[in-house]
Amino acid sequence: MANWDKRYAETTDRLFGEKPNEYVRQVLARSDFSAKTALCIADGDGRNGTWLAKQGLKVTAIDISAVATEQALAHDKARGVTVERIVADIAEWVPEPGRTWDCAFMIYLQCEADVRNRAATLASALLNPGGWFIAEGFAPNDSGRGSLGPGMPDLLYERDQLLDAVGDLQVIEALNGWIQLDEGTKHQGTGWILRLLARRSKVAVREASQFGSKAI
Ligand SMILES: C[S@@+](CC[C@H](N)C(=O)[O-])C[C@H]1O[C@@H](n2cnc3c(N)ncnc32)[C@H](O)[C@@H]1O
Repeated sequence: MANWDKRYAETTDRLFGEKPNEYVRQVLARSDFSAKTALCIADGDGRNGTWLAKQGLKVTAIDISAVATEQALAHDKARGVTVERIVADIAEWVPEPGRTWDCAFMIYLQCEADVRNRAATLASALLNPGGWFIAEGFAPNDSGRGSLGPGMPDLLYERDQLLDAVGDLQVIEALNGWIQLDEGTKHQGTGWILRLLARRSKVAVREASQFGSKAI
């Protein structure tokens, strides 16, 4: 398990830059996107959560690192926004009963596959009707070309596993590709990544028996 507290404590700058992740920005710019509340899984020192709050969303952010969360709170304050920030391991975190969100982000969560897949399943289950799941992370690459990102395969966003994890959401795009990253000191260079955008149905699906009739 990486020592994220140590990594964040070693810098006063945002490790992954000041600006939001480009895919987060692109999804918010979609003409069909709307959301009032956002859940940010592994928000680190807060670049995405702070920016989403600046866009007017009510944001809840989770990260395992207490140091990153302290830094994120300071950035929120400096930018005049309030974000609900929770220090928790996403392997175990569960929200209070009844809480749901309009969108959930899982941007470069760096952890083992079982934890990552659990996080995606949990986030999907916590979406309101019409809600959005947005993920970006380094992906397995067998081209022989070097990529930014952790060397351990278990830490990479494996497409089919994540598609399974989001279950009944409608997949809008699940794209693997090379991108040029320019995010803080840690994401500098070319990376093979996965971008996943999926959406919960706008209509709650109910069994025919709930209407007192037989399914046909
Ligand atoms: C590469 S950083 C990305 C941070 C942020 N999402 C961003 O893009 O700026 C990975 C983050 O995952 C967090 N993390 C790793 N394992 C976690 C876990 N089990 N639960 C919650 N957060 C975790 C780390 O603390 C770290 O902030």
